[in-house]
Amino acid sequence: MKFFVDTADTKDIAELAATGLIDGVTTNPSLIAKAGRPFAEVIQEICGLTTGPVSAEVVATDAEGMVREGRKLAKIAENVAVKLPLTWDGLKACRTLSDEGTAVNVTLCFSANQALLAAKAGAAFISPFIGRLDDINLDGMELIADIRQIYDNYLFDTEILAASIRTPNHVKLSALAGADVATMPPSVIKSLVNHPLTDKGLEAFLADAKKADIKV
Ligand code: E4P
Repeated sequence: MKFFVDTADTKDIAELAATGLIDGVTTNPSLIAKAGRPFAEVIQEICGLTTGPVSAEVVATDAEGMVREGRKLAKIAENVAVKLPLTWDGLKACRTLSDEGTAVNVTLCFSANQALLAAKAGAAFISPFIGRLDDINLDGMELIADIRQIYDNYLFDTEILAASIRTPNHVKLSALAGADVATMPPSVIKSLVNHPLTDKGLEAFLADAKKADIKV
């Protein structure tokens, strides 16, 4: 399973990229707004921190505008993936940009039928938003499993990018359901390593090593 980091904070991205555990980055307009710097400048910097795909989202809502913005974003760096919303115009723009060889991440996916449409439009990634479904008492994980089955039934090569991940359990369940990628905030990636028994065990090993004066 690939791990993308869902942030536009270049410090966090650099720190996580140094671990070798990160396969790409996703951003959205809300994350870019938080960074408080010009859009193209942030995306260019992020693209230099990873060789994996970096999702940069358009803000136009009509297909023509999305294609125009998508072409502009794709020129920033080779590893830009253009992020488009799951609307009719987004799907039209997805077909055009995908046919031109640009990787497209279709975002704001909340149903299996939407995911089917995105695959048919040539999307490189589909982003089902798990956390936002859970927020309204629906089952985000059921959506990941449904999309996995549909894509496998018809051999679509669109990658399932589990998004809106809020907890370590979301990561585990996405992996079990067969998502190709999980994108998560830096705090969730960092929390995956935690286990109280690891801390307790290490403390005991180190205490014994000290008592026996073990040196390596
Ligand atoms: C993914 O590409 C989105 O930017 C992100 O996962 C949305 O997460 P949120 O629902 O926590 O805002």
